[in-house]
Amino acid sequence: MAETADLTLDGKTISLPVIEGTEHEKAFDIGKLRDQTGYVTYDPGYKNTGATKSAITFLDGEEGILRYRGYPIEQLAEQASFLEVAYLLIYGTLPTQAEFDAFRYKISQHTLVPEDVRKILDGFPSSAHPMGILGSIVCSLTAFYPQSISPQMSAEELDLNIVRLIAKITTIAAWSYKNSVGHPFIYPRNELDYTANFLYMLFSYPTEEYKQNPVVVSALNKLFILHADHEQNCSTSTVRLVGSSNASLYGSVSAGINALWGPLHGGANQEVIEMLEAIERDGGDTSKFIAKAKDKNDSFRLMGFGHRVYKNFDPRAKIIKKAADEVLQALGVQDSPLLKIAKELEEAALTDQYFVDRKLYPNVDFYSGIIYKAMGIPTEMFTVLFAIGRLPGWIAQWKELRENKEPIGRPRQIYTGETERNYVPMAERA
Ligand code: CMC
Repeated sequence: MAETADLTLDGKTISLPVIEGTEHEKAFDIGKLRDQTGYVTYDPGYKNTGATKSAITFLDGEEGILRYRGYPIEQLAEQASFLEVAYLLIYGTLPTQAEFDAFRYKISQHTLVPEDVRKILDGFPSSAHPMGILGSIVCSLTAFYPQSISPQMSAEELDLNIVRLIAKITTIAAWSYKNSVGHPFIYPRNELDYTANFLYMLFSYPTEEYKQNPVVVSALNKLFILHADHEQNCSTSTVRLVGSSNASLYGSVSAGINALWGPLHGGANQEVIEMLEAIERDGGDTSKFIAKAKDKNDSFRLMGFGHRVYKNFDPRAKIIKKAADEVLQALGVQDSPLLKIAKELEEAALTDQYFVDRKLYPNVDFYSGIIYKAMGIPTEMFTVLFAIGRLPGWIAQWKELRENKEPIGRPRQIYTGETERNYVPMAERA
């Protein structure tokens, strides 16, 4: 007999169906709860709410497991390329060589952005944060490709929009940076691999071409893979919620970029490095900052620690920590004072009762910033790199939502405001 959960309210019992995923995760289906009882559920921050069924990413926070379409993150980070992982997330299977070649070729043919994008970029002050620019320009693609807003588009048209977005995001990202430092834009070079082309556009000048370093290219490829999807996190849920109104792919992803920017989400990678630099400037005493993080009267948090889902360790952080050691060694900056402070902070936090009790471990953002810094990536671009990495996940989740014909997202609330009262004309107000 199918498993159910009984709920008794005012002497009446209703049975809630239990649904189970392929990894034996279970949920009560409360879809008819309000109709049957007049009650809704209350779960601020959606800590216990399964908002969708999804076949893309499996995550077990207790065991520290992360798999894309069934493949362990450790294997993908070690052996795959970022575009291969993008294909896997979006289309559900690892590509054959022919499928991969065709996908990569199509992406390489769409790296140019419309020339008028330069005029939009011109309008931004040089102080603009590249994440703000990225979100705006991605949304502006709806204007350059107006057919992309039609919810009725064919599978071929959707594929074209997907390819365009993956291809153009690196050009837009690199140009957002060039704009912020007042340097000339560098056009893509389609013969370069995806990651190398991004580095080329970010670091080259018309007068001097950036010399690719295989260590940097390979580390960035790995970082992009580690960021590529993370099931229903804040930005992905944003993409799905916006997409559920039949909003376009570009509009939905632009919303996801803005959600990612927040310092509690992807913006934490910039905050981590700024925190480590602040500790260094302060003389390097980590205990002072740990005490601040524990002080409930102080809003300071140890950035790069804690996660809504991972309660033992973040498997991505484990891979990144190892990569940080390797990259810094290969680049000859293994004695980086920031890495030393980071390691001290990690060690102190992991033995401190406050962090142990709350299961606060280093997350993906803790070590990624150190690698980015060693590569010479400007701090304000850290979250932009997270966005490039996360793009295939957002696309896959948006596509899945459409394919599953999910209803528009519209949570309920418990109203706590004033009850009915009469309008008072302005002259009579106290
Ligand atoms: N430093 C100090 N205390 C913390 C921290 C931290 N980084 N994170 C959580 N806590 C405390 C928090 O004060 C609370 O304590 P108490 O129970 O005494 O009130 C307890 O731990 C639980 O925290 P919470 O805010 O209820 O946990 P959450 O699941 O809502 O938040 C989080 C998760 C990631 C937003 C939070 O841990 C945090 O703010 N971390 C720092 C920002 C960060 O590194 N974000 C990147 C997340 S990973 C990348 C991504 O996917 O976005």
